[in-house]
Amino acid sequence: MKKTILSGIRPTGNLHLGHVFGAIQNWVKLQEEYECFFEIADVQALTDNFEHPEKVRKNVMELTIDLLSVGIDPKKAHLFIQSQISEIAELTVFYSNLVTMARLYRNPTVKTEIAQKKALFGNEGESVTYGFVGYPVSQAADITALRGELIPVGDDQLPLIEQCREIVRKFNAIYGETLKEPEYLLSKTPRIKGLDGQEKMGKSLGNALYLNDSSEIVSQKIMNAITDPQKIKKDDPANPEICMVYYYHQLIQNPNLKTVCQECKNGTRGCVACKKELIARMEEFLAPIREKSRYYENHLEEVQKILEEGTKEAKKRSTETIQQVKKSMMIDYEKDSTQER
Ligand code: TRP
Ligand code: SF4
Repeated sequence: MKKTILSGIRPTGNLHLGHVFGAIQNWVKLQEEYECFFEIADVQALTDNFEHPEKVRKNVMELTIDLLSVGIDPKKAHLFIQSQISEIAELTVFYSNLVTMARLYRNPTVKTEIAQKKALFGNEGESVTYGFVGYPVSQAADITALRGELIPVGDDQLPLIEQCREIVRKFNAIYGETLKEPEYLLSKTPRIKGLDGQEKMGKSLGNALYLNDSSEIVSQKIMNAITDPQKIKKDDPANPEICMVYYYHQLIQNPNLKTVCQECKNGTRGCVACKKELIARMEEFLAPIREKSRYYENHLEEVQKILEEGTKEAKKRSTETIQQVKKSMMIDYEKDSTQER
């Protein structure tokens, strides 16, 4: 029996290279070996965007197209929409009794995000909703509804997995052995540096290179990338280890990497030429992704179908889970009607 992988992503914008190299390339590998469920976490996206449902709605389709274009294969993995699995919402309510407010506020991920909101909006009390503080509970519901065993995440998400494990232990201790504790699969490169030298590429950091950026924009962004500041003239020797251009040559697995490194160190490579090479390789890297993306843009009904089928599988699993959960909690009144679903 293949182990089950569950991971999720919020539909709040298009995919950029930080997502691709930090997470999605790993998902693409995992789908070869595991039973994979990848969740479009629209309910979670709404915790921050509840006033802009149209934005989340639009992003669900765009994100799905991006994921398919990068190589998520609907024949191998199930892509599903969180809001369509009502069992997740049910579990969220049931689990909410098993978590104290103090514990939620202590969750490092929540803590960091509250601090960010505070910096943005000033008054914490007015900007931090019940739904937001509780999103670790909802994420525990995502994981357990699908009975995810291995959860690929970046280290910023570890506290959420830990909290999920606590909820599972508490549930089992009170209602009897029902749920299984998930384990995390830590991404080796969860944080991808920006071309501008910032520690992370991110939408909010304004330094993201998007999969759907035009060739012109890609070229512009790479030409502006931060190189070794010590290198002034074209033939100054430099240190590729502190150069973002070199870092991206590595990420896109330039087969010419050794030469780039040597020539940089020897001072026989100018930064402009080096950037031009990266642009060319990036275009090569993006070409098949853009092509697939164009295909799906023109076959939206196919995308719809993929989501429907993935969601159907997710629903099947979650229905089984909720039946067991309700039985354990002695709220299984609908014994017979559940079979008709
Ligand atoms: N919170 C995750 C993020 O922001 C996305 C997510 C939603 C998730 N549900 C999940 C990750 C379940 C792992 C498992 O990146
Ligand atoms: Fe960076 Fe290339 Fe310039 Fe070296 S030659 S500093 S690797 S851009």
